[in-house]
Amino acid sequence: ARLVVLVSGAGTNLQALLDACADPAYGARVVAVGADRHGIAGLDRARAAGLPTFVERVPDHPTRADWDVALTAAVAEHEPDLVVSAGFMKILGARFLERFGGRTVNTHPALLPAFQGAHAVRNALEYGVKVTGCTVHFVDEGVDTGPVIAQEAVPVRWHDDEDSLHERIKQVERRMLVEVVGRLARDGWTVKGRRVSLKCRTC
Ligand code: GRF
Repeated sequence: ARLVVLVSGAGTNLQALLDACADPAYGARVVAVGADRHGIAGLDRARAAGLPTFVERVPDHPTRADWDVALTAAVAEHEPDLVVSAGFMKILGARFLERFGGRTVNTHPALLPAFQGAHAVRNALEYGVKVTGCTVHFVDEGVDTGPVIAQEAVPVRWHDDEDSLHERIKQVERRMLVEVVGRLARDGWTVKGRRVSLKCRTC
């Protein structure tokens, strides 16, 4: 399966996918990496892997809808089977979802529906939860509201700050994202209402 990965930052989830794709048995390969900004490590990682990259910045377009159209076209050029939003910090618009909805997954550093939005780790920490986690879900028109594919819990420690908690979550998140993307790519899936079933032989 052909993957296009969208990033906005460090790209450690992207790196986990790149490492997994090195194994031909994984059943997927990253064909391009897109971002909403320049100068991020995620793009350096893509270039280091010899991959095509593209950047579509919202301020470069007259309207948000124009940005959405441009991003959709940039992704479509690479003919992905799956789009993976791995730390991409923009809401994907109607045009994008028309084209790639149902085959775009996002990874979120909280147990959705708890702590949606761009500050999930900070919000969980400040709420005082003792367990948080990460979620991989299909992207729909909402913010972190699409059908859940996989989740895993991560304990919060009394000495945690946002960085230490986020790093502990990312250890789990990277492994879960790699496993889910591989299963989606190799075995496919079904969605009934909001319930996602991975058609894998062993689960
Ligand atoms: C991940 O935890 C992702 O869930 C969140 O931002 C982080 C991105 O990390 N949206 P990286 O850029 O993949 O290292």
